[in-house]
Amino acid sequence: MPSALLVLASVLTVTTVALDNGLMRTPPMGWLAWERFRCDIDCEQDPKNCISEKLFIDMADRLSEDGWRELGYVYVNIDDCWSSMERDKQGRLQPDPKRFPGGIQKLARYMHDRGLKLGIYGDMGTHTCGGYPGTPLDKIKIDAQTFADWEVDMLKFDGCYSNSIEQAQGYPLMSKALNATGRPIGYSCSWPAYQGGLPPKVNYTQLGEICNLWRNYGDIQDSWDSVMSIVDWFFENQDVLTPAAGPGRWNDPDMLIIGNFGLSMDQSRSQMALWAIMAAPLFMSNDLRTINSGARNILQNKMAIGINQDPMGIQGRRILKEKSGIEVFWRPLSKNASALVFFSRRNDMPYRYQTSLRKLSYTTGSYKIFDVFTDKSMVLKDSTDFVVSVNPTGVVMWYVSAPKNDTDMELT
Ligand code: GLA
Repeated sequence: MPSALLVLASVLTVTTVALDNGLMRTPPMGWLAWERFRCDIDCEQDPKNCISEKLFIDMADRLSEDGWRELGYVYVNIDDCWSSMERDKQGRLQPDPKRFPGGIQKLARYMHDRGLKLGIYGDMGTHTCGGYPGTPLDKIKIDAQTFADWEVDMLKFDGCYSNSIEQAQGYPLMSKALNATGRPIGYSCSWPAYQGGLPPKVNYTQLGEICNLWRNYGDIQDSWDSVMSIVDWFFENQDVLTPAAGPGRWNDPDMLIIGNFGLSMDQSRSQMALWAIMAAPLFMSNDLRTINSGARNILQNKMAIGINQDPMGIQGRRILKEKSGIEVFWRPLSKNASALVFFSRRNDMPYRYQTSLRKLSYTTGSYKIFDVFTDKSMVLKDSTDFVVSVNPTGVVMWYVSAPKNDTDMELT
């Protein structure tokens, strides 16, 4: 090995703390079946919406033809209810033959041919949450190998029908088994969600070493209440959660439900903004065949995606909770920039929130501000008071570029 490479290799070994598969250096993005399509297996009565290869092919076509893939939405992920109730003669999992007649490998190739990736779902208990065959300890190796043989790119490993002792063995074991296949497979662990999401039961250092992302909390449903309960839990526990996140290892507050039935446009912007602040994986669970342009524009907002995908991968925090019901969130970004979100819990009318950058702990002069959802920009001095008008349950989101002084210094 040339010496420069040797040095590089040793630096990489020293600095890599996350799962050593090199994947998901920024939060993964794509589409996941569960929230919108659940365990609908009735392909006779409901052929367009049932869990079948057709559904994943349809979504792959939309991702590759409607501008999603170029923005980073590349995973097409199968969730529960894909498999047959029986393993095959060699003891391997197999897809339901009626709903996936082409098999999983063919589906994976369909994705790869379009620059997309395929994700699959398993469960480390006796059964999946939906009652399909699980992957208990003695099946972990064979199932990891089967997924690799099928050329799958990601595994969500659920925890129904397993106890905490089995989970403590099974989640690390699957991580090893996936690595041992030699195929890079992103690994999503539901483990912490089954253990209450907090230390001492949950060891986030260990999770970062074995998983690329993990579900910390309960399932999202198609409602604003559900989004709020998730937001509340994540920011109440931010001191525990933010240090756990970084390139290759992400907290997962669950899917984006933008484009479904439960959120207004303002609430949709709020979910997008707060998921970007949280450096959350962006898995949409919606119907990309019929999504309206309002929801699409929010999900395809380049600046919001750019903030989510910032290469430093530092998870943001809530920095203020005002009595008025306004909350302020902040995330440090690369190039000395940052993101700010002003969020309203009010239910009366747009609230005129007055503050200054200095009050939000910015102290170094002038900043260029880009409003993420209106595309407007302006220059603000740290000491200048300003007013943002925040709609009920809505947000104003800003990208704040490096202070003028700093930029000048960098240029010289
Ligand atoms: C659990 C998971 C969900 C989904 C279902 C499938 O509830 O948390 O995300 O995968 O199981 O049954």
